[in-house]
Amino acid sequence: MWGAVPARRPGRLCRAAFPVLQGRVPPEHRQLFRENLRNSEAALKRYTELLEMVSKGGGEKAILRHTQRNKKLFVRERLKLLLDDESFLELSPLAGLDMPYGDVPAAGCFTGIGKICGVWCVVVANDATVKGGTLYPIGVKKQLRAQEIAMQNRLLTVYLVDSGGAFLPLQSELFPDKSHGGRAFYNQAIMSAMRIPQLAVVCGSCVAGGAYLPTMSEETVIVDKIGTLFLAGPPLVKAATGEYVSAEDLGGAKLHSEVSGCSDHFASSEKEAFEYIRNAVSTVNYDPLPEKATEHDSPLYSSDELLGLAPQDYSCSLPVKLILSRLMDGSRFQEFKANYGTTLVTGFGHMEGHLVGIVANNGELSHDASLKGSHFVQLCSQRNIPILFFQNTAPHSAVPTSISQAEAYSNRLKAQASMMAAVACAAVPKITIVIGGCYGSESYVMCGRSFSPNFLFLWPNARVALVDSRHFSTVPQAGDNDCTGDESELKRLKEKLEEESSAFYSTARLWDDGVILPQNTRKVIVQCLEITEQQKYQVVSPCQYPIIRM
Ligand code: COA
Repeated sequence: MWGAVPARRPGRLCRAAFPVLQGRVPPEHRQLFRENLRNSEAALKRYTELLEMVSKGGGEKAILRHTQRNKKLFVRERLKLLLDDESFLELSPLAGLDMPYGDVPAAGCFTGIGKICGVWCVVVANDATVKGGTLYPIGVKKQLRAQEIAMQNRLLTVYLVDSGGAFLPLQSELFPDKSHGGRAFYNQAIMSAMRIPQLAVVCGSCVAGGAYLPTMSEETVIVDKIGTLFLAGPPLVKAATGEYVSAEDLGGAKLHSEVSGCSDHFASSEKEAFEYIRNAVSTVNYDPLPEKATEHDSPLYSSDELLGLAPQDYSCSLPVKLILSRLMDGSRFQEFKANYGTTLVTGFGHMEGHLVGIVANNGELSHDASLKGSHFVQLCSQRNIPILFFQNTAPHSAVPTSISQAEAYSNRLKAQASMMAAVACAAVPKITIVIGGCYGSESYVMCGRSFSPNFLFLWPNARVALVDSRHFSTVPQAGDNDCTGDESELKRLKEKLEEESSAFYSTARLWDDGVILPQNTRKVIVQCLEITEQQKYQVVSPCQYPIIRM
């Protein structure tokens, strides 16, 4: 969130004063660099294969049925018509893979942030080639995360609805609870009351619960012949009344535009519907965004080298300033408390002209490092500067071996608690990039998911777990510190924990906003900074009521 400070683009002054970081990889680290590089290349290959797989949605047969028999555009084509010709920040494209209930490519729905008529908007679009666009539990989670991002960053939201509603075999996992399907409709009302506009296109079926999404949107357009909206479809009507009624007569575009009023606009084609949405976006009355700053320096070192700096293991981490020197404008960085608590690096720099505060792990989060982190995070919050967390937390579990060590650990705990409080309450945008380990409680301190950063992305080499299973020598037993357990049990546990620690396991479950390539990090961060900044140019007056369809 941003504090109530008047709109001003920060960080244009004194840029030249920041010292240049030394970014050459020292000879003693070259071997480690090569090993990390090999690991990153393998992870990158896996990432590319998975992306390729999800780009086919529900598969070729389903795409043919969707485009030829049902005469609808594939979801990616829809996005091309809707968005400005600029980059789209897709969120969690690998969500839904390898779930207990099978693969659900992209969780059956696309989410992301793109520009429409120059305005950054959240887009939520069902992919009807994945089981008729029905919502699986992971699809519900993805939709709710997109709405959360819209609320936190005050982003206009567009829904492209083409969904058979709930995936019925899993109804108990997506219907009754607070964070299940109905929450999306609750959020819609709250978002409207917050003056976050929501627009919808009915470009396929909207059945049962799915019918509420367009009906609760502030403006809805329905596409002739392919858009239908009803609580129960023709088969249910037939079962209940014995009467056959066509989907078009029961809930087609004409009926909802002329009789029921569930839709506000009738479009004769999908293209016309997306044009309508683009026009509607230009009526939300936002101040135009300022021209993008074109003058900025690139980093002095190649971003491709980030692959060799991405640690394959915590013990393979190289000094984090080598990473910063490949991300910051001109590799320039104004360090804060450079000689104190050096296992955390804090300071200021620019990313394509945006002034940012950096908090980056450079070893274990010691007592002094945590105190420095608390101080720096408060400094950024006071000055209204967004904070970037580069997380590579240590996997150790602190078991003291002496009284004095126990005392030191308690002091560290207290310092970490103070940093957690500072991070939780910093009223500025926070973006977390997990560049290595996301382990245990230190991951909370470094603005992990439970600390609600505006965005959280992982590098493909990242590992997310309470402990690092690779360093287990015995099986921990409940209530028994002297661990026992046979070899095979240990092996099974290690394998399970190992699998559950990978970046792909994490992103499939939506514990993050997606895996990003190290060499794209700067671009993604700049997009996020622009997105979070947009709300400074909205005139927001208090309003308690949503727009209610009459
Ligand atoms: N739950 C589980 N699976 C569903 C489903 C649902 N609600 N709706 C559709 N599917 C499955 C179909 O069984 C089919 O699976 P298959 O590919 O393994 O055969 C796949 O999704 C595609 O459905 P199909 O009917 O072949 O495609 P379509 O494009 O002709 O129609 C729908 C799509 C969504 C319009 C149509 O399937 C439908 O009306 N479904 C019922 C919707 C409903 O009653 N929902 C109530 C939810 S509370």
